[in-house]
Amino acid sequence: MNNHIEITQPDDWHVHFREGDMLEMVTNFSSRINKRCVAMPNTQIPITDSNKASIYKEQIIKASKNDFEPLVPCYLKDNLDLDDFRIGLQKKIFFGSKLYPTNATTNSKHGVSDISKIFKYLEILEEENSPLLIHGEKVADNIDIFDREKFFIDDELNIIRSKFPLLKIVLEHVSTSYGVKYIKDNTNIAGTITPHHMLLTKKDVFFDQKINPHHFCMPVVKNETDLIELRKAACHDNSKFFLGTDSAPHHIDEKKPDMSSKPGIFSAPCSIELYAEIFDQENAINNLEIFSSINGARFYNLPINNSKIKLEKTEWIVPELSSYKDIKVKNFYSNKKINWKVVN
Ligand code: NCD
Ligand code: ZN
Repeated sequence: MNNHIEITQPDDWHVHFREGDMLEMVTNFSSRINKRCVAMPNTQIPITDSNKASIYKEQIIKASKNDFEPLVPCYLKDNLDLDDFRIGLQKKIFFGSKLYPTNATTNSKHGVSDISKIFKYLEILEEENSPLLIHGEKVADNIDIFDREKFFIDDELNIIRSKFPLLKIVLEHVSTSYGVKYIKDNTNIAGTITPHHMLLTKKDVFFDQKINPHHFCMPVVKNETDLIELRKAACHDNSKFFLGTDSAPHHIDEKKPDMSSKPGIFSAPCSIELYAEIFDQENAINNLEIFSSINGARFYNLPINNSKIKLEKTEWIVPELSSYKDIKVKNFYSNKKINWKVVN
């Protein structure tokens, strides 16, 4: 039995750093173990040009303690400056681009209302061999919240893939067995999987006409059958799936026990430990490294990190809150025991 493992330093391909004091707090957690993180561009004023992306990267680098690299995708909206978009990609100021359907999640009101409006950017991404990161949910009055991923795949992603067959796509935070199968069955597409989609089902969120806001995120967690397929894909499939926590902090006051609550789960204080726990439960601890540190870099054609981290089988309890200056955020898995810990 393995009581400790040493793995190549991980990368987290989906993190919300936010701004100001929150950014400083998040950076401290996310740079503690990761070498690179994709810093999501859905800030209050979204990152829609290369100047904003450069400033944002500098803010994160300044707040990080270790040798750490934030990667910032361009937030797609209907009217971007095409030259700035292309040059930003060529100069690697942008790490590809992120598609948020309008009103699908936090700070997505400026997102994409109609995919035909962004074909001009997708053409550039394909030409520049830059990735398209997707929040894959179709939002409409007649679509149930649990079916948003399936409708996005059927109605939008199929069109994008057929028009841009060479475009490299990451379906972020896959949440359904349908999404897992779609990724496996198709080329030029990979997926990130969060710890919470492998630990929670909808029963942990919705009950007695209320919600548990600390388990409320987009895409919402689904059924046991989905959770099982996500675990299999992460722990045993080992090529098209990689680590993306979607760690998304909101101040504790923004978390309300109803659907007016901001969606997002903050897992950065215990993310790699939670993944280790899940892989261990699946008798696949030796597959953690390929998921956390290899598959993502390979898919994105980036070098695999040289440094290593160690995890040890030691029990610890996740603290209730993360606090910094005036910020208070409830941690995912708070007051629960985890059996794995990073050792320096
Ligand atoms: C994220 C956020 O709060 O920015 N929320 C979430 O529920 N995951 C946005 C996102 O990735 O959907
Ligand atoms: Zn996210």
